[in-house]
Amino acid sequence: CGIVGYIGTQAATGILLAGLEKLEYRGYDSAGIATVWEGEIHRVRAKGKLRNLQSKLNGQEIPGLVGIGHTRWATHGKPEEHNAHPHLDTSKRVAVVQNGIIENYRELREELKQLNYEFVTETDTEVIPNLVAECLNQMRQSGETEKFYSPLTEAVRRVVNRLEGAFAIVLLCADYPDEIVVARQQAPLVLGFGQGEFFCASDIPAILPYTHAIVPLENGEMATLTPLGIEIYNFAGDRLKKHPHLLSGTAVTMEKQGFRHFMLKEIYEQSSVVRMVLETYISNDWTAASTTSPINLSLPAEFYTDLEQVQIVACGTSWHASLVGKYLLEQLAQIPTQVHYASEFRYAPPPLMPNTLIVGVTQSGETADTLSAIAMDKQRRAEKTPQFRPRLLGITNRMQSSLARLVDYTIDIQAGIEIGVAATKTFIAQLVAFYCLALDLAYRRQTLSATQLEQIIGQLWQLPAQIESILEQQERQIEELAHEFTETQDFIFIGRGINYPIALEGALKLKEISYIHAEGYPAGEMKHGPIALLDAKVPVVAIAMPGSVYEKVLSNVQEAKARDSRLIGVAPMHDEHAKEIFDDTLPVPVVDEILSPILSVIPLQLLAYHIAARRGLDVDQPRNLAKSVTVE
Ligand code: G6P
Repeated sequence: CGIVGYIGTQAATGILLAGLEKLEYRGYDSAGIATVWEGEIHRVRAKGKLRNLQSKLNGQEIPGLVGIGHTRWATHGKPEEHNAHPHLDTSKRVAVVQNGIIENYRELREELKQLNYEFVTETDTEVIPNLVAECLNQMRQSGETEKFYSPLTEAVRRVVNRLEGAFAIVLLCADYPDEIVVARQQAPLVLGFGQGEFFCASDIPAILPYTHAIVPLENGEMATLTPLGIEIYNFAGDRLKKHPHLLSGTAVTMEKQGFRHFMLKEIYEQSSVVRMVLETYISNDWTAASTTSPINLSLPAEFYTDLEQVQIVACGTSWHASLVGKYLLEQLAQIPTQVHYASEFRYAPPPLMPNTLIVGVTQSGETADTLSAIAMDKQRRAEKTPQFRPRLLGITNRMQSSLARLVDYTIDIQAGIEIGVAATKTFIAQLVAFYCLALDLAYRRQTLSATQLEQIIGQLWQLPAQIESILEQQERQIEELAHEFTETQDFIFIGRGINYPIALEGALKLKEISYIHAEGYPAGEMKHGPIALLDAKVPVVAIAMPGSVYEKVLSNVQEAKARDSRLIGVAPMHDEHAKEIFDDTLPVPVVDEILSPILSVIPLQLLAYHIAARRGLDVDQPRNLAKSVTVE
C-alpha cells in the first residue's frame, strides 16, 4: 500500500492526490483521502484505481490544510469501498491510513468490542483509530492530557506499543486539527521538510515535487507533524534529533513518451540501462595485458577477504535474476552459491556457515520478505565469532531504500524508476550487476584467464547495440505472432543451464500481465512430468541458444513437437536447423552462451507484452499485483 500525509498552508486534496499518483505502483485496489476542517473529519474513498477517486471528487476539493491519503493493495478484507482507507474510529474523530499487517488485530478488536466500539470493515487497520480514540478518552478521564505537549502523539505512542506486526501509520484527529502523527515498524515511511509545510509518504517520489529535504524514519520511530515543524521520537517517547538530508536529482518524470504503455517504454530503455551499468562498473578498454582490475564496484578489501560462499535472497523477478547470478558466480568465479526465496529463508534458514556473503536482491529495496530475511540473518550472525559475522550486499535500484540502509555494501543498478508493475529494465540491470560481481570475483580469485576475461568484457560491451537490433527487427513480428494466442490458456517455457531462469522469467511475465497460465521448466525436466500437459492447444516456447546445451534443448523441443505443440523458439539468427524445427523463431544475435540471457529475455518480454496488450488488459497495472509488496 502507499500512504501520504500533508500539513501546511495549501489545500491538502491536490497534494494528496498527486502523491497517491506516484504511489499507485504500491497497490491499486482502492484509494481514499481524509482531511480535518472546522472540527470534523472529511473523507472520500473509492474502490479500484485512483482515477475512480478522482472522478468521484470530480475536480472538487475536500476542505482542509491537513490531510492523509492511501492507495491499497488488499490483504485483510476484499477490495471494496467500505474496506478502503482512511479508516475512522466509531465516533469519527480519528482517521488512519496504514501500510502493513497488524497481526494481533483479532484480540484487539475483541477487546474494543467489549468497550462498545463498532467495527464496520473486515480490515486489521480499523483497530488503530479505535484504540487511539479509547486511549485519548482514558487520558482525558484521568486528567493526563494536560501533561503532554501533544496528547495525540502520546496516545499513538501507547497504541503502537500494543501493535504486533509490520506497519507504517499516518493518523489525523479532529480534536487536534494541527497535527499528523506517524509511526514506522518495518514498513517504509519518509518525512519531507518544506517551507511552512511538511509531508510524509511511503516513498520519496510522492514528496519530491515539493521538497528535497527528507528524513527516512527507522523502525520503532514516530513523529508529530505540525505547521511549525516535525518532532521525531522513539516508541519509548524519547525525542530524537535527526537532520534532514538533501536529495539530489529532480522530481521523477512519469511520461510514456509516445509509447502505449510504460512497460513497452521500459523494454525499449534496456539498451541504455545496460550501457549505463557497464559504464559505471566495467572499463571498456581492458585487455588481457592490463594490470589493474577491469571491474570497479567500489567495495572495500574486507568484502573479499576469505570469501567462501554466497547466499542470495530475493522474490519474484529478482529471484530469477539471482538464479542467473548463481550460475555466473559458480561458473565464472567458482564460488558455491545458493538462491533462496526470501519468504522461505526467513523461517527455514540454512545452517550458519562461515565467510558467507549474503546478497539481498530487490529492485524496490522495500520488499518485506527480502528485508526480513536479511535482517534475520544479520541478527543471528551479529554475536558470532568474526568469520560468521554478517557480510551483507544489496543489489537494488533504490539507494535510499530500507534495504540500502540495512546492508553493509550496495550495488546500485541505476535503471531509473520503473513504473510498469512487471519488471523488465530492472531485471536486465540486475543481471548486469551480477555479471560485474561475478567477473570481479573471477578476476580476484583468478578463476578465468586474462584472455577469457577480455573476451567476455568485449562481448558485454556489444550487448546494448544487440538489444537495440532485437527491438528494431522483431517487435512487429512478435506483435503479429501475439494475435495467434488470443484464445490460448496455457503456455510452457523451457530453457536449460543459464537460460533456465529466463524460461521462468518468460513464463512469469506472461502470467503477470496476460493472466494466461504459464510454466517455466528446465527443458530436460519436461519429459518427467509437464509433457503430460502438451497437445495442439499448448504452445511451447523454447530458449535454444548456441552453447553447451543447444543440441539438448533442440531434442527436448522434438519431444514437444511429437505431441503436436506449437513451437516458438528464441534461437540464433540465421540458424537453419532452428528454422526447420520451430513453427516460429524469434532470432537473437549469436553471443557466447554465458551472455545470452541478456538477449534471450527481450523477445519473451515483447511476447508477453503484446499478448496482454492484444487482449486489451491493463499491462502497467495488472490485477492483484503491486510493484512493491511491503507485507510478509
Ligand atoms: C512484487 C512484484 C514482482 C517483483 C517482486 C519483487 O511481488 O509484483 O514483480 O518481482 O515484488 O520485487 P523487488 O522490488 O523486491 O525486486
